[in-house]
Amino acid sequence: MAIRTIREIGDPVLNKISKEVTEVTPRIQDLIDDMFETMYETNGVGLAAPQVGILKRIVVIDTTGEDPIVLINPRIVETDGEQTGNEGCLSVPGKSGIVTRPNYVKVIAQDENLETFEIEGTELLARAFCHEIDHLDGHLYVEKVEGDLVDVTPMDDDDEEWED
Ligand code: NI
Repeated sequence: MAIRTIREIGDPVLNKISKEVTEVTPRIQDLIDDMFETMYETNGVGLAAPQVGILKRIVVIDTTGEDPIVLINPRIVETDGEQTGNEGCLSVPGKSGIVTRPNYVKVIAQDENLETFEIEGTELLARAFCHEIDHLDGHLYVEKVEGDLVDVTPMDDDDEEWED
């Protein structure tokens, strides 16, 4: 496994549409493993393949640190309600902004064996589904921010809490 370089806002790869995955090759399995490692290393809750420069429809999410989810070719099939809250992105370092998302999201995706499954989430998980799937279509949350982006204090690597 290896830490991959995260592409940052302004890199054109982040605005491109990713391609469907039709086969999970060893190379793609390595990519998924690296995406998890990179996400955990940077204290992220989600990462999409285009963020590491690969235009494939692959997302990894873990909102608790104990529930890794791989979504291949994910599609949002149902949403309900609304939540308005802070959002950030590893590709937009040091910033956050207020974004309104559905409070409930149902996704159909494929797993690493390309078996189709359905997964539902509310609150942070629903927000992560929307944010990461947007990446696969070349969209960043900054397009949806209400008001201004604000500066955030970077999280210390050894600290679980945001610093004051
Ligand atoms: Ni992001």
